[in-house]
Amino acid sequence: MNNFIVTTIRKPTEAVEMLAKEIALKLGGQFVKREDLSFDALKTIHGVENVLLVKKNSLSVMTSAGELFFHPNTAHLRIKNLRGGEGDRLIDALKLSSGSKVLDCTLGLGSDAIVESFVAGSSGEVVALEVNPLIAEVVSHGLKNFTDDSPHILEAMRRVKVINVDCSEFLKACADNAFDVVYFDPMFRLPVHKSSGLNPIRPLADDRPLTPEIVREARRVANCRVVMKEHNGSYEFARLGFEVVDGGKYSSVAFGVIDKTYRLL
Ligand SMILES: C[S@@+](CC[C@H](N)C(=O)[O-])C[C@H]1O[C@@H](n2cnc3c(N)ncnc32)[C@H](O)[C@@H]1O
Repeated sequence: MNNFIVTTIRKPTEAVEMLAKEIALKLGGQFVKREDLSFDALKTIHGVENVLLVKKNSLSVMTSAGELFFHPNTAHLRIKNLRGGEGDRLIDALKLSSGSKVLDCTLGLGSDAIVESFVAGSSGEVVALEVNPLIAEVVSHGLKNFTDDSPHILEAMRRVKVINVDCSEFLKACADNAFDVVYFDPMFRLPVHKSSGLNPIRPLADDRPLTPEIVREARRVANCRVVMKEHNGSYEFARLGFEVVDGGKYSSVAFGVIDKTYRLL
């Protein structure tokens, strides 16, 4: 995937420029000196759709739908609610508790992974997969370096292990029952809100539907359950064999589960 270049802010320090060069090398993209050029000018000159921008303390991607950058987003409020004794729909669907081992197959902006990591705690594990290298780089850098939040949220962020890989490949290489739960939050077949916080990742995100083969592998890898988020009423649940456990009447999203802990009597 070479539809991007890597550059820096206008007057970079040596360290910022060095980091930009390292990232370009790692991702197989071209490093371009920013000079005084706008992003549109850089895109036209180099014939690319995206510019990965290295700043002093963060990374972002200038896409056709705006700037993609890391922020804990809804994770902040969800963790605050959990600490206040309220529930969280994802955590309930996953049946997560301290010490759980989670494979999050669709990292995206990382909000769900942060909440999973908060609940799994330091005795648990969250491995989060992202197939798009630019999203994986920006979010993994943010999870490691973001500082503007409370210690328990920062600790949860730091514990998430990000891997830039297609989840179908990763699952095939996993042992049986390697994780307690496997979670999918694929790009919805029908986007819920055109103007949602996910907009800047849309031009980069992989929007292929899950396949029965991927779900079969997830069943093998999950010790307890496989969970998928989709829009409420989605045919994906039935097509892929998920039982809808939380399809709130007033919510646009629902959670489906394949539970491996049920035993025939
Ligand atoms: C809807 S977003 C996930 C949002 C995420 N749960 C959050 O809290 O921000 C879906 C993400 O999964 C990624 N993705 C889609 N198919 C994938 C695959 N086969 N392997 C790994 N990542 C994938 C997309 O590129 C996108 O970034």
